[in-house]
Amino acid sequence: MLNQTIDHDKINTIERHFLDEQQSHPEATGILTSLLYDIALAGKVIASQTSRGGLAEILGKTGTTNIQGEEVMKLDELADRMIYRLNDHTGRLAVMASEEQEDILPISTRYPIGKYVLLYDPLDGSSNINYNVSIGTIFAIYNRISENGPGTLEDCLQKGRNLVAASYLVYGASTMLVYTAGMGVHGFTLDPIVGEFLLTHPNIRVPEKPKYYSVNQGYEKYWSEGIRRFTKYLQGDEPDAYGNYRKGISLRYIGSMVADFHRNLLGGGVFYYPADTKDPRYTSGKLRLCYEGAPLAFITEQAGGTSSNGSQNLLDLQPDSLHQRTPMFIGNRDLVETAEEFIRIYDNQE
Ligand code: AHG
Ligand code: MN
Ligand code: MN
Repeated sequence: MLNQTIDHDKINTIERHFLDEQQSHPEATGILTSLLYDIALAGKVIASQTSRGGLAEILGKTGTTNIQGEEVMKLDELADRMIYRLNDHTGRLAVMASEEQEDILPISTRYPIGKYVLLYDPLDGSSNINYNVSIGTIFAIYNRISENGPGTLEDCLQKGRNLVAASYLVYGASTMLVYTAGMGVHGFTLDPIVGEFLLTHPNIRVPEKPKYYSVNQGYEKYWSEGIRRFTKYLQGDEPDAYGNYRKGISLRYIGSMVADFHRNLLGGGVFYYPADTKDPRYTSGKLRLCYEGAPLAFITEQAGGTSSNGSQNLLDLQPDSLHQRTPMFIGNRDLVETAEEFIRIYDNQE
């Protein structure tokens, strides 16, 4: 059953939607609305590049010059630079940080300093770029905590609980933008001819009955006992702590977290990227707390789901460094809680 109904008499553009939401906050200055709109614009620009995909091969290879005499950049570098350039001069941000850059990205002294902080994963699922498979972008917006002057590393290292807004774009068969500013989760589809995002998925809620589990099962041999058993449980082959079996659900794994997350948000399910017990690089999992974990955790919670690192809600984790990794379980509440239970029982024994 569809959990959204579209009022066909009312065409809601993203701008109109942001403004409507702003009006329910009388104290709002409109800066956040403008920032969200900047993000939507960045998404449109990136979408226009991703949809040209393999044409870069014809127009010029990465690192070379194309027929217009411009340097051809890798899509993730291009997205990274585009987001920065669209946001550095607006006066809305104090500082930015990108998954593609080691350090925080200060705002040039040429431009005014604002009160928000923007963290982003410019292209998520970059291993899929060359295969014409869905990829995405993730944004996290915080209030600055430093008093004044340029934004600081501390401004960027905030718990997900402090998030003011979070958003992702998925560049799939169509381009969609999904966001929350703490008043539910709303999804927009880009009309590529008109160039506008139109509201197609108001008030997204995670369906109660999950359909999918999403994990890279190729790494099963590196998993802990708890994760292996949890996966068997999802397949219907292992009882939970109370001796109950569930009906098995389907496996779907794209390898672009945004796309996997988006499907499970609409269809119901759980996405997980657990810690690796063998590879020392991934003992904390692969995904990054600040750029991937926290913003998607906020969106999930706003849609009625939840997230965990295996024992704690991702939104409650205090990041120590910008690129810190975390094991991640996200989606339907009961499935995430069951994952925690398996980990508690099988992995945390003395
Ligand atoms: P990114 O492209 O931003 O580096 O993120 C890639 C992530 C995520 O999108 C995806 O879920 C995961 O890597 C896939 O990793 P595996 O290939 O190890 O499954
Ligand atoms: Mn990513
Ligand atoms: Mn990335």
